Amino acid sequence: MGSLSLIVLLGSIIVVSAGNFNQEFEITWGDGRGKILDNDKLLTLSLDHNSGSGFQSRNEYLFGKIDMQLKLVPGNSAGTVTAYYLRSKGAAWDEIDFEFLGNLSGEPYTLHTNVYSQGKGDREQQFHLWFDPTQDFHTYSVLWNPQHIIFSVDGTPIREFKNLESMGVPFPKNQPMRIQSSIWNADDWATRGGLIKTDWSKAPFTASYRNFNAEACVWSSGKSSCTSSSPPRGDWFNQGLDSGGKKKLKWVQNNYMIYNYCTDTKRFPQGLPKECSVN
Ligand SMILES: *[C@@H]1O[C@H](CO)[C@@H](O)[C@H](O)[C@H]1NC(C)=O
Repeated sequence: MGSLSLIVLLGSIIVVSAGNFNQEFEITWGDGRGKILDNDKLLTLSLDHNSGSGFQSRNEYLFGKIDMQLKLVPGNSAGTVTAYYLRSKGAAWDEIDFEFLGNLSGEPYTLHTNVYSQGKGDREQQFHLWFDPTQDFHTYSVLWNPQHIIFSVDGTPIREFKNLESMGVPFPKNQPMRIQSSIWNADDWATRGGLIKTDWSKAPFTASYRNFNAEACVWSSGKSSCTSSSPPRGDWFNQGLDSGGKKKLKWVQNNYMIYNYCTDTKRFPQGLPKECSVN
């Protein structure tokens, strides 16, 4: 099935793009704490002592270049987690994660990333950002095609996960995923390993979203919208990092990466995961 669907996919790319939240997303939980506002151009998720909230895309996607602008909980956001990710269904799911771990006022957010293939993650990389993500909207992007997963922030690549199936590393490429996001309380672990608790007197904690944009293949009724009848638009389907992108990635990894599973030899006494010898 893998090679069959690939042949179909290579034929064409459908562009699905919209800043149109009601059409593209649904609020899935939070009893009114998730809202679509400002003439459909703004989505907000809130967390208070009783509940967080979340939304998901109406569509499932199998590959895409997906951009969203987020503005994170300002002030004292310690203990809160805002997660923005792609995820498939089932027990052997695939997942591509951005998670933003809050902090005390003036202390840096941690951007936590992970990639799951077939239910297995354990591939965390964490970063601080080169700006304050609570002051303005910034663009967080996932490029997902059959050979690469590239995480970017304002167009700067921060992480690449390559298809290394040839080395026996599973790569997410057969299961359609939905875009999901949620805000919740994780003060048992999120900030300084759980030392700093959520200050509920500052609730509600609100994260904002705008300018969703996707060039992607939509999966529906067992089929991809990318068929052989219309040719690929744009180059995202075959894109990797060019030399400029590789330089920027290196800059981020040298200056802003605070955790990398690929250097955590204590955690993997049996040896680092196979992809670590390449990525
Ligand atoms: C919070 O700030 C501290 C001190 O600057 C930093 O070490 C930590 O990585 C930040 N993020 C979290 C989620 O604790």
